[in-house]
Amino acid sequence: MCYAIPGRVVGVVEGVAEIDYFGERKRALTDSAQVAVGDFVYAQAGLVVKKISEAEANAVQGYWEKALPELREKDRELSSRSVGVNNWLEGVVNRAFAGAPPSAAEVEGLLRLDSPSDLSSLYSASNELRRLKLNNSCCVHAIIEFSNNCVNDCAYCGIRRSNAGMSRYKMSVSEVVSAADYACNKLGFKSLVLQAGEGAYSVAELVETVENVKKACGTVVFISVGELASEDYAALWEVGARGVLIRFETSDPTLYAELHSGQELGDRLECIRDCRRQGYLIASGGLLGLPGQSLASIARDILLAKELGTEMFSFGPFIPHPGTPLASCAKPSLNSVLKVLAASRLVELESKILVTTALEKIAPDGRRRGFMSGANSFMISATPSDYLSKYDLYPGKSLRDEVVAEVRAVQEFLKGIGRAPTDFGV
Ligand code: 5AD
Repeated sequence: MCYAIPGRVVGVVEGVAEIDYFGERKRALTDSAQVAVGDFVYAQAGLVVKKISEAEANAVQGYWEKALPELREKDRELSSRSVGVNNWLEGVVNRAFAGAPPSAAEVEGLLRLDSPSDLSSLYSASNELRRLKLNNSCCVHAIIEFSNNCVNDCAYCGIRRSNAGMSRYKMSVSEVVSAADYACNKLGFKSLVLQAGEGAYSVAELVETVENVKKACGTVVFISVGELASEDYAALWEVGARGVLIRFETSDPTLYAELHSGQELGDRLECIRDCRRQGYLIASGGLLGLPGQSLASIARDILLAKELGTEMFSFGPFIPHPGTPLASCAKPSLNSVLKVLAASRLVELESKILVTTALEKIAPDGRRRGFMSGANSFMISATPSDYLSKYDLYPGKSLRDEVVAEVRAVQEFLKGIGRAPTDFGV
């Protein structure tokens, strides 16, 4: 689990460090870090990220030692479960609490819930489960969107190949490294997602980028560049990539083929499975509210994410983009997305569940509502602002403040709901 409050190593056995955080013990792979008993370290996504001095650890721990219990108390106050009158729902939730996740039919039933009291029972139960299983820790990753060039032509996506109205960019290796350096070494992020359109870079360029980012930052690097050959992902692993963010978008093979011209769901799934076999952490999920998508199909999406061994569930609303064939489609409602986040929590109790920025675009309080429905992860774009406005996957996405202002706003937001942003500085 990701926990980037510094901890003290109390044991190292066969590449696994046992780390003490104010009396709580967690385990993390030492990976490429050389650590010994007594060292102070940051760990992230189950990996030791870096060793720090005792003085630095003491300073940061001093803050958390006081702040953490206060935040946890606030989280506890805000996440009490409201037990409703729907016996079927209470049965599904109680079984999930007892470790028996809902079946496909039950997940579909959750997605069909409609009355305000049922929705509030579902959301509060998922939030309470999140708290009981994972406490108030929250992952906040930085994402650098390093090119909007793309060889694919996905029907929903603003950066699709045939959107001629898009102004394209491709950051150089040194631009990516300096953005990463800023995010990690100035803002304190411990985990970084490098995202670009598919085919925007050669594998040699990707390898050079990851290698240099790792050297400059030493943080956990997720790569999000679509489908690559197995040996290409192996080459990226060699230079230090440890996570892959790759959505399967939908578990329905017919819908997938309709939306992704010339591509097949089977190839995408094989790529994800192969990455997992190679040891990568998987962040995956799909789009919600696509034309032609049924609730039964979304229920299967959630179970597919689990089956793929997804560490971070990434489900977000489809938002129609004017430069695409789906321009005139409707976007989904906030509740239809919150139900998916909540059902995902019941299906996979200990997962990280992301609140996507797209969710905030469909409702001004989307972020808060997501966190109150079982979610516990978030990404902040650290893409340089002159490029950010061009990474136009869906309308409204680019309208973002400077990174620092966003980091401060997210810190305040998390504090307000009693969550500990455990992977960036205090
Ligand atoms: N609305 C919401 N999300 C989108 N993505 C692409 N286009 C859209 C859209 N119109 C998401 C896809 C992809 C990720 C990089 O961006 O799910 O995996």
